[in-house]
Amino acid sequence: MKTEDLKKLLESMTLEEKIGQMVQFDASFHETGEEVSLTGPAEAMGVTREQIEATGSILNTVGAEKLTAFQKQYLEKSRTKIPMLFMADIIYGYKTIFPIPLGLGATWNPDLVRECMDKVARESTAAGIHVTFSPMVDLVRDPRWGRVLESPGEDAYLNSRFARAMVEGFQGNLDEEHMASCVKHFAAYGAPEAGREYNTVDMSERRLRQDYLRSYQAAIDSGCEMVMSSFNTVDGIPASVNRTLMRDILRNEFGFGGVLISDYASIKEVINHGVAENEEEAALLAAEAGMDIDMMTDVYANHLKKLTEKGELDEELIDEGVMRILTLKNKLGLFEDPYRKASREREEKVVLCREHRELARKTAGEAIVLLENKNKALPLKEEEKIAVIGPYGDCGALIGMWAIHGDRKDTVTFKQGIEGRLQRSVPSAEGCGMLDDTSRLGDFAGLLEAFGTKSRDREEMLLEAEKTAREADTLILCLGEHTLVSGEAGSRGDLSLPKQQLALLDMAAALGKKVILVICAGRPLVLTEVREKADAILYTWFPGTEGGNALADILYGTVNPSGRLSMTFPYSVGQIPVYYNSFMTGRPYREEDSKNRFVSKYVDMPNEPLYPFGYGLSYTQFSYSSPILSRDEMVRGQTITASAEITNTGAYEGTETVQLYIRDMAGSVVRPVKELKGFQKVALKPGETKKVSFEIEEEMLKFYTKDMEYKAENGRFALFIGENSSVEQSVYFQLK
Ligand code: BGC
Repeated sequence: MKTEDLKKLLESMTLEEKIGQMVQFDASFHETGEEVSLTGPAEAMGVTREQIEATGSILNTVGAEKLTAFQKQYLEKSRTKIPMLFMADIIYGYKTIFPIPLGLGATWNPDLVRECMDKVARESTAAGIHVTFSPMVDLVRDPRWGRVLESPGEDAYLNSRFARAMVEGFQGNLDEEHMASCVKHFAAYGAPEAGREYNTVDMSERRLRQDYLRSYQAAIDSGCEMVMSSFNTVDGIPASVNRTLMRDILRNEFGFGGVLISDYASIKEVINHGVAENEEEAALLAAEAGMDIDMMTDVYANHLKKLTEKGELDEELIDEGVMRILTLKNKLGLFEDPYRKASREREEKVVLCREHRELARKTAGEAIVLLENKNKALPLKEEEKIAVIGPYGDCGALIGMWAIHGDRKDTVTFKQGIEGRLQRSVPSAEGCGMLDDTSRLGDFAGLLEAFGTKSRDREEMLLEAEKTAREADTLILCLGEHTLVSGEAGSRGDLSLPKQQLALLDMAAALGKKVILVICAGRPLVLTEVREKADAILYTWFPGTEGGNALADILYGTVNPSGRLSMTFPYSVGQIPVYYNSFMTGRPYREEDSKNRFVSKYVDMPNEPLYPFGYGLSYTQFSYSSPILSRDEMVRGQTITASAEITNTGAYEGTETVQLYIRDMAGSVVRPVKELKGFQKVALKPGETKKVSFEIEEEMLKFYTKDMEYKAENGRFALFIGENSSVEQSVYFQLK
């Protein structure tokens, strides 16, 4: 449809019809073949059948047949014949589940992740989906927060690279095999105080802009069609009614012209926040701030009309929002084909197809991080007598919390992957349960069974595991956190493994066998004591549908681990938030200060984390030359080149992630001790050396100065090229 036709369509709509476009409910509100009208939730909310029928989108129903029937029925009843938009949380996979985004972050491979999201789009669109509520690129520095699993990590530059890649993968050229992408959660949802879900976010404007906003902006710059607001406050104002955020920054500064949707019920929740007395006020605040769609409340449905009729809300604001929604529908081609060629046949062809599974396996292989490998415990030899022990040993929950359309039954478990590799069955035992305490799981407690948690006698399980372990020489101990304690509303105050899992580890360690610890989790856990008890540790995150095969590839050396942490692993919960690009203090703690009390340090633990950002081992070793600069003076507008030689000094072919960090030695405001500015993955054969070069541009040196100008200041910069963020070897250059 041409823009003029869209405008004519808008003019032909009644106020009620326009408001309908700005309201989103899920399918349970609608009258469908199987369901009766005015279902429970609709009645409870006080919305009428007419209001529901006028809504312009639904969320989280999937499947070509279901959605095609839904659209058909909807259009038959609709006066305007504007097709409905189908949105869903397809976060890191539809049916073929890729690793969780924190694992995708650990690949340090945005090109690969773009390819994964392209496949995700192909599966989802075959199943009728038009918009995905992804990527989530909230910057995360607090592993107590359960949603760190959904983010690529703690660094603005890395997150921005992934934000771009994911949007490009999902959207492609927005043909029928691609879908619109909705970046979320705008803004700074990843910084709730104390890591407690939905808690206050409060930070300086400088930090907000410098660190937290950049990845959303990157998504928008790559053409992301939608943005979702967040549950939290920003500078005292809930994001979903925050005019500064949504109008001034998002629309005016970032130039975002697409659709803005609230997070689930977040407009209504501003009453709980205490910035609106009632629903009418909440509706006015949100509409004035430029929110286009109200997700899952009656606030817009029941109040926008009254507000407009009373003259308190300008109808033009409604028209603007509706025009944006119609434009998105038009871009997706829905006016020409409201079904976007979704079909059961397409689904069957593409969902979980070999190509997608292979990509999921490769990606999980790149996401897994080797944290420890004492005495070259890994890779294993096929003849080693192994046993697979632990609650994650033969468990399909490898797809993680937010793979809501994935099926655990399609997952290759660790045991299955290993057995497939060895072409023989291997002894195994569950050993213990996954959770010590289920009393705070609330509504989710009822899901425990469905998530594969059986309750059995602990003693009996441990004894059974010990018996199995005694027969083997090498124990693959598969531990981790339960899916239900990560993800949304999965905040944790204690980041250790559950006690019964620790008891299992103690049993394994006491037997004196080789212990290969495999940890499945949605966040960095505290492994300070655990690491003493294992010969090797592989951190798999929730690796997805092909997790078992990917693990087997790594255990037996077909794939040499190359994953690198995109989030710091704390030494103790007490260090949190702990992240690599922190600020210098006036009394920094340096080695020579070990006898000095009055420096910035803990008296009971190190300042350093357990594993720094960028860390990860390989079966081989790499050595770095000192970095070299093409010039030690940089003139504005020109570039200089920094390079280093990397050598594979070990016995295996491997891939190193070469990381470039820069430190601004003195600025008009305090600058971080180091900032990631680039990285390259290089494959090296044993004995091989490669020179890796980075172009240093003025853009890399910019920050928000004391006058809040985004620019580079003259002065001295330290440049580091190394294997992770703890690199110390540096060279200096001067910006003139
Ligand atoms: C989450 C969003 C999600 C939405 C729709 C909310 O609870 O915060 O990330 O997209 O639900 O399911």
